[in-house]
Amino acid sequence: MEEVVRFTLNGKPTTLTVDSDRTLLWVLRTDLGLTGMKYGCGTGLCGACMVLVDDKAVQSCGVPIKLVQGKAVTTIEGLARDGKLHPLQKAFMEKDALQCGYCTPGMILTAYSLLREHPRPSYGEIVEGMEGNLCRCGAHKRIIEAIQLAAKAMEGGS
Ligand code: FES
Ligand code: FES
Repeated sequence: MEEVVRFTLNGKPTTLTVDSDRTLLWVLRTDLGLTGMKYGCGTGLCGACMVLVDDKAVQSCGVPIKLVQGKAVTTIEGLARDGKLHPLQKAFMEKDALQCGYCTPGMILTAYSLLREHPRPSYGEIVEGMEGNLCRCGAHKRIIEAIQLAAKAMEGGS
């Protein structure tokens, strides 16, 4: 059913008239051209499609657009602020925590959500927090190192 959905997208008020049962993933990718989040499995198993909803990582392939009514959605395109990359983005680059990059936006947004809950995560908390995100290139070790580096860089709230 077509419905008006209002939400904040990467800091900007956004109003759409859409079939409100369509998934957030496809509305963002095809209607709004935000292709940072990826389609992987489509069934909640890979984490490639992660976005932040009210700063919590969610799988956009499983969320009907109507459920973000009144919420704040952030995609990887909205993570940098004032032209400056987020510490997680910098850390992923510094640690070379990717190969093909397909999983990277989802990894970074899940890590963002994880660091909000655990600003100084243990190794085990990182592994557990990232278990819903798969990397077919096997970059997990460097991904964990990047999250540890970002956590350090963010100490003190930077
Ligand atoms: S595409 Fe959403 S979890 Fe895989
Ligand atoms: S870097 Fe290729 S899927 Fe993770």
